[in-house]
Amino acid sequence: MVIDSHAHLQSVDFDADRAEVLERSREAGVIAIINVGYDLPSSEAALELAQSYQHIYATAGIQPHYAAETTQQDLERLRTLLAQPKVVALGEIGLDYYHDRSPRPLQQELFRIQLRLAHELQLPVVIHSREAQEDTVRILREEAQGLRGVMHAFSGDWAYAEQCLDIGFFISLAGPVTFPKALELHEVARRVPLDRLLIETDCPYLSPHPFRGRRNEPTRVTLVARRIAELRGIAEEHVAQATTANTRALFDLSGLSV
Ligand code: NI
Repeated sequence: MVIDSHAHLQSVDFDADRAEVLERSREAGVIAIINVGYDLPSSEAALELAQSYQHIYATAGIQPHYAAETTQQDLERLRTLLAQPKVVALGEIGLDYYHDRSPRPLQQELFRIQLRLAHELQLPVVIHSREAQEDTVRILREEAQGLRGVMHAFSGDWAYAEQCLDIGFFISLAGPVTFPKALELHEVARRVPLDRLLIETDCPYLSPHPFRGRRNEPTRVTLVARRIAELRGIAEEHVAQATTANTRALFDLSGLSV
């Protein structure tokens, strides 16, 4: 039994066969899925799916890409969404200096605003950070004291992972940990304390080996668990149990009946 702690099932990539994808994931032992929003429409769509399926939960948040166009009205809509039952976290939010689709000062401002909102609403946060390690850590140190959170689809070395752990956040590993040449991620997978580790697909993106480049789906979170277990030299079951317990604790999935 595993939980996919980060998926985007509302994506158009699943429009043709969403029900079958979900059926496959249930058969593979995926007992819950956190379906993540990245702007207002995708957050609303995530909530709609969560309302249709008992084992799906939603998050709502605005990614840094949209920092330049986000208005006060959008933030009010976000606040309304975050108050809905089954919305379990604020995210994904953060900094993206790889795509740089909004000016960096505006990305940082939107990141801070949403972290403060998470404090106010007492919600955990899902962090997206690409090529922005230094600023991400700095802003989290300044704004995230006492917040629960996860570094989603963690990419970086052990030194960066240690900084994130030091802030008190979880580390979530996705498909790239299965890539043969991802040596930095392999080290992170070996060293992260088991009680601070989450697993995810980030589907439809980041398909694990040997499906790299193809559409990803929640079923394949089991491949992430298996690779981490191999790297640590422990049973896959052990990784599954720990990450399931961690995900339930982080997002307070008390309504989950399994
Ligand atoms: Ni994502």
